[in-house]
Amino acid sequence: MFIEIDIRDVKKNMLKAISDEWMLISAGNEQSSNMMTASWGLTGELWFRDVAVCFIRPQRYTLKFVEENETFALSFFGTEQKQALSFCGSKSGREYDKIKETGLTPVYSDGTVYYEQAKLVLICKKIALGNVKPEQILDETVITRCYPEKDFHKIFVGEIVKVLERR
Ligand SMILES: Cc1cc2nc3c(=O)[nH]c(=O)nc-3n(C[C@H](O)[C@H](O)[C@H](O)COP(=O)(O)O)c2cc1C
Repeated sequence: MFIEIDIRDVKKNMLKAISDEWMLISAGNEQSSNMMTASWGLTGELWFRDVAVCFIRPQRYTLKFVEENETFALSFFGTEQKQALSFCGSKSGREYDKIKETGLTPVYSDGTVYYEQAKLVLICKKIALGNVKPEQILDETVITRCYPEKDFHKIFVGEIVKVLERR
């Protein structure tokens, strides 16, 4: 069962959760949806709102779903789903039915999709879009290390409109 909680009551260390435990970015509806693993992103305050920011490279199938929907979800899991997250982070929804392959159970709600097995879900309403622009990166090693293919991320700033915790 999920219960709605205040973002300030989240006990998780979000930096650790995103970078070490990873998250699924998902968007879409019952007809069509997709999810992908992400470990780059952040949560914080911006423009008087609680926000989550995520970074999606142009070749990701998930990009289309996040672009086409007003809302996306960030789902966090326990270690028992690490294999599912590895799958969603190495295979594309263009070739695989990730829901079928991982056994994750989609919950279509709040204008988006998230997963029954998640421990924590952030429902995010898009409020700004951006692009990583190489000319704005001051540390050249970021370009050489992270963008040898010049596939600069699209940036999505989402207002965290609902936080769900599994009880
Ligand atoms: C641990 C981990 C973290 C990842 N983080 C990101 C990320 O932050 N942004 C991104 O664009 N891709 C990231 N990826 C890669 C995508 O998850 C991967 O390319 C995925 O297969 C895309 O699926 P899709 O084509 O169905 O969207 C990550 C992969 C892994 C394994």
